[in-house]
Amino acid sequence: MVNFNYMTPTRLIFGKDVVNKLTDVMKPLGRRVLLTYGGGSIKKIGLYQKVMELLKDFEVYELPGIEPNPKYSTSVLGGVKICKEKNIDVILSVGGGSVLDCTKAIAAGACYDGETWDLIIHKVPTKAALPIVDIMTLSATGSEYDAGGVISRTETNDKLAYMDPHLYPVVSFLDPTYTFSVNKKHTAAGTADAINHILEQYFCADHNTLADGFCEAGLRTLMQFCPIALREPENYEARAELMLACCYGCNGIYALGNSKGGWPMHSIEHALSAYYDITHGEGLAIITPRWMKYILSERTVERFVSLGTHLFGIDATLPAMEIAEKTIEKMYQFFESIGIPMHLREVGIDETRLAEMAHHISQEGLAGSHMYVPLSEEDILNILKASL
Ligand code: NZQ
Ligand code: ZN
Repeated sequence: MVNFNYMTPTRLIFGKDVVNKLTDVMKPLGRRVLLTYGGGSIKKIGLYQKVMELLKDFEVYELPGIEPNPKYSTSVLGGVKICKEKNIDVILSVGGGSVLDCTKAIAAGACYDGETWDLIIHKVPTKAALPIVDIMTLSATGSEYDAGGVISRTETNDKLAYMDPHLYPVVSFLDPTYTFSVNKKHTAAGTADAINHILEQYFCADHNTLADGFCEAGLRTLMQFCPIALREPENYEARAELMLACCYGCNGIYALGNSKGGWPMHSIEHALSAYYDITHGEGLAIITPRWMKYILSERTVERFVSLGTHLFGIDATLPAMEIAEKTIEKMYQFFESIGIPMHLREVGIDETRLAEMAHHISQEGLAGSHMYVPLSEEDILNILKASL
């Protein structure tokens, strides 16, 4: 088992109607609030109106229209400007992972005099951020319980993960009923994203029994309850199970004591969504089985056997390579069964820019020795080609 130094300082307030506690949570954080949200789903479900009512004694400014795959030049900089001009005390993010990720970058940018991008690329250290509170409306990213945000800069085709401990939300409100309205596409994509977060941490050289069990339970939960939520969008238990399993995704808790895997599938997918603005979870579902197949070897087969026998109940007496192949097939079939398009062409990506993307991705250090399986530019290109 490897050493670790772990803390997630975010308070989770989970369950039906927990948003009623919003006023009490916000009061100690300040009076001037920036409310951030996306394209309007929170208005359709009545959450915007509820939040405004709960914040009637606060001075509320708004940043609407934050896009999926949030953009630096519009949303992040727009939010930083409001924070500085209005002397904002606290930011309230209401929406999915994109809104919260954007909020995190705004929170840091608001406390820095230079170019916010320099914080995102870690050119300068983040020394402070405004406090963040969020109300999550989509189960997927785990942004509500982690210290990261992913920001796209369209001009340069960059989509980068910005991680810093200052970015942990102070409080995350998780009420599964606010996810009832999430459509089939985003319910499935969110589940695929969370599944992939676990796999990124499961596939590593040094792992432990407890982490394996936790990861497998997370995967089982996601795979059991996603089909129910797709069939019955207002099934509270299903939405609650998804919400809880998703929230642990990226804060390290699934893999305490494990060595690092390097998150290769995320690096690859971030390029896909940077170049083509596709839905993150769909890109990941497409890449996952192809990456698995590509890295399968005598050295890695043990991870596949563990996953296949524990999660899918594949006969442990079969030859290891056969179990591994079946495991990859099961993973593919699951994504297909929840309605995810399983080829890049189906999400509008053809061969034209694969080489360019492979080169771009290779700049993120995927060939380094910190990776579970290092990937060269050629390897990345092969995985992309296999995903077409
Ligand atoms: O914009 P609105 O109108 O709110 O609509 C959104 C959006 O169109 C809609 N939606 C959200 N809640 C809804 C709803 N529709 C109906 N009812 C609701 N209750 O869903 C659409 C997608 O929303 P988005 O926030 O983009 O989805 P998600 O939460 O999956 O976030 C994706 C972003 O997070 C990044 C991804 O790369 C992507 O940019 N990630 C962030 C991570 C993190 N912070 O730790 C880790 C992840 O690996 C991921 O990279
Ligand atoms: Zn993800």
